[in-house]
Amino acid sequence: MRIVVLVSGTGSNLQAVIDAVKAGELDVEIAAVGADREGTYGVERSAAAGIPTFVVDFKAYPDRTDWNAALARAVAAYSPDVVVSSGFMRIVSPDFIDAFNGRYLNTHPALLPAFPGAHGVRDAMAYGVKVTGCTVHWADAGVDTGPIIAQEAVAIEDADTEETLHERIKVVERRLLVSTLAALAADPEYSAA
Ligand code: GAR
Repeated sequence: MRIVVLVSGTGSNLQAVIDAVKAGELDVEIAAVGADREGTYGVERSAAAGIPTFVVDFKAYPDRTDWNAALARAVAAYSPDVVVSSGFMRIVSPDFIDAFNGRYLNTHPALLPAFPGAHGVRDAMAYGVKVTGCTVHWADAGVDTGPIIAQEAVAIEDADTEETLHERIKVVERRLLVSTLAALAADPEYSAA
């Protein structure tokens, strides 16, 4: 299974995938890593791992349609079976998702459909839920919507800050992303029971 991973920031989930592939625990080929802006640590760490990288800078395009088309071209050049949005903080167009036959995977730091959007951890804390978690799902053109593949719960502790909770979620999220990719590589129709 060939994957292209899209990042907007740190890329610690991506690093978990890189490490699992290197360790022989995950049978996927990371064909390339792309970002929506220059200077992300996600691209830097991929280049350090010898993975091809590209940037389709959102701000370099006159509008979202042109940017989406350029992103689709850049990703398609690597012929991925699955495109992974791993902390990629931009919404892509339905055309983009169609171009990859709907195989656009996203991870989110909350138990969707609760708390979608850019602040899933903060929103869960603000609501006062006692349990949140992370979700791996097939993304559609909405904000963190689309069929859920796997989820795992994480308890919120009284002493948690957004940072401590997000870090605990990410520990689970990294494992869930790697195990979901492994399951999809073995069975393209995989969905957790
Ligand atoms: C992850 O927790 C991911 O779920 C979240 O951004 C973080 C990226 O971390 N994505 C979203 O909130 C998307 N709505 P990373 O760059 O260290 O992998």
